[in-house]
Amino acid sequence: MKNYKRYLVTSALPYANGPVHIGHLAGVYVPADIYVRYLRLKKRDVAFIGGSDEHGVPITIKAKQEGITPQDVVDRYHNIIKTSFEKFGISFDIYSRTTSPTHRDTASGFFRTLYDKGEFIEKTSEQYYDEEASQFLADRYITGTCPHCGNENAYGDQCEKCGTSLNATDLINPRSTLSGNTPVLRSTSHWYLPLDKHEAFLRNWILKENKDWKTNVYGQCKSWLDQGLQPRAVSRDLDWGIPVPVDGATGKVLYVWFDAPIGYISATKDLTPDWEKYWKDKETCMVHFIGKDNIVFHCIIFPAMLKAEGSFILPTNVPANEFLNLEGDKISTSRNWAVWLHEYLEDFPGKEDALRYVLCANAPETKDNDFTWKDFQTRNNSELVAIFGNFVNRALVLTQNYFRGVVPKAGELTDYDKEVLAEIANIKKNVEESLETFRFREALKEAMNLARLGNKYLADTEPWKIIKTDEERVKTILNVALQITANLAILMEPFLPKTTEALCKMLNIEAIDWELIGTSLLPEGHKVNQPSLLFEKIEDTTIDKQLERLKQIKIENERKNAKAEPQKPNVSFDDFTKMDIRIGSILEAEKVAKTTKLMKLLVDTGIDKRTIVSGIAEHFSAEELPGKQVSVLVNLEPRKIKGIESQGMILLAEDFTGKLIFVVPEKKTDNGAMIR
Ligand code: 2FM
Ligand code: ZN
Repeated sequence: MKNYKRYLVTSALPYANGPVHIGHLAGVYVPADIYVRYLRLKKRDVAFIGGSDEHGVPITIKAKQEGITPQDVVDRYHNIIKTSFEKFGISFDIYSRTTSPTHRDTASGFFRTLYDKGEFIEKTSEQYYDEEASQFLADRYITGTCPHCGNENAYGDQCEKCGTSLNATDLINPRSTLSGNTPVLRSTSHWYLPLDKHEAFLRNWILKENKDWKTNVYGQCKSWLDQGLQPRAVSRDLDWGIPVPVDGATGKVLYVWFDAPIGYISATKDLTPDWEKYWKDKETCMVHFIGKDNIVFHCIIFPAMLKAEGSFILPTNVPANEFLNLEGDKISTSRNWAVWLHEYLEDFPGKEDALRYVLCANAPETKDNDFTWKDFQTRNNSELVAIFGNFVNRALVLTQNYFRGVVPKAGELTDYDKEVLAEIANIKKNVEESLETFRFREALKEAMNLARLGNKYLADTEPWKIIKTDEERVKTILNVALQITANLAILMEPFLPKTTEALCKMLNIEAIDWELIGTSLLPEGHKVNQPSLLFEKIEDTTIDKQLERLKQIKIENERKNAKAEPQKPNVSFDDFTKMDIRIGSILEAEKVAKTTKLMKLLVDTGIDKRTIVSGIAEHFSAEELPGKQVSVLVNLEPRKIKGIESQGMILLAEDFTGKLIFVVPEKKTDNGAMIR
């Protein structure tokens, strides 16, 4: 790894239009935090930048939905998001917001510099306008079919399915998200960044100088460049955003993707008066952590802006991740298909590191990945509890039991002891190599190998079997096991910071020094504290509760998306009156043997008591039915079902989720009452 003088690590600014979920954490913030914590442990100068993206259409849409102002929206969600990140130990040096005065001035000044340098072109063009809402339809105010991949819900500025950046006029079958209407074209004038002018530079910079970028990032940039770059509008006709700072631009604001990445600069300004060294010195390594839908903005548009301005450095790397799905389905805010961080924190108090662990172990680094609650449980129980926790616990409990918590003196080391201790330095090297090349899953796996090694060491040396016969050897074994434990505490800090903190307390150590990994960290005679469990097992009932919640959300979504069946052809009044429908009461119910759906019912129709076979056994139990009043078609031709003569039909409504409900009288009435 080239030794840079300092590091500027940015993580995508999430829109403050809703809380953050596991997809955010897995894709951006956990890897960024691991990287930054590692850099700090390596004693590098690093600034870790985060903040909320508070402009743009996502915010105004949310405000409209909730009947509040955009400012209310961003105030509410900025705080929720910030708190969630803090609780998960995401160690930003600053968590800023794009509605801050510093940001308004910085973004405005940046635009003005490019404007004064003649870096924009001003163009009048036809853009979509919603006549009912009296508004131009920028970005997410308009949806339609993506001309590249056919996704029917692509936005006016981007297709989230294929990642392509779009202009609203590229969309096929455009629709206004405000009214649902087909928009009309109206002319309006805007400022454009002529990306075509920067194409040759970008081609060379990305495709030749940055061949080491992740293949998903490099590939997306290449395909964009190969399509040829077009001028890109950097202003919008909206009333929420940073006003365009030139005369005659009333009602126009900066495009959110123009102002948001400048948010990294303004946050750095708020962090330190010495901000320029992070942005303008070639000795700085700038790394943007983002999700794949942000690649073009960070690899093409923002670098073109920085280049056009002239005094800024460009990113050294942009290790974008792919997407995390949830139980096989794309995470979606609008469908509430997500594990929200603030809810996880309530449901799993104290288990922040367990989620960090699972999201890193299963991170969508090279392809989309799936989060499942079962996998979460398995990784927690069989890896954190059974490997890491178990090893640490055994080492510490045995030390308490045999030596009252005092680190025993190591005697002469066997070849095996030496081999095990030597392996720690190898593991450190492997973890470093993986972290420096943004392979976080691999780094975590390698770090866990140290816990595996510790477990194996205790299992092989079996101190509990020889304590009575060879106490001296047990002293050596536990000394080695405790050195592994202390090394593990440091090695895990970037991944599981709260666990490291807890483990350091148990080991009674304060300062940790990464460069000492691989050495003896606990001197003979050092007193360690009473251990407690580092990780707790997660029970099936806890997981079932989460799965049930998701099941209910699926049902709710099906209901929302369902449409009523089209009306059947008309029937005559005479035909209708041929049907004899009565109120009846179920007297007895019994499931028909060897079937899943059928229930044999004895029904009092007021006319008689008769047998009816009904396909309701998957929806009702036999016990709950007797006594219920129902509607019965009593003059339906009798027919044999599974050898039983069924003399009528119980009427049922099937809701949009496929659930059956009885059609019942509003209040209890006489059996035999006619329905007409
Ligand atoms: O995709 C998003 O959530 C954007 N708000 C990310 C912005 S990143 C940066 F440019 F600010
Ligand atoms: Zn697409």
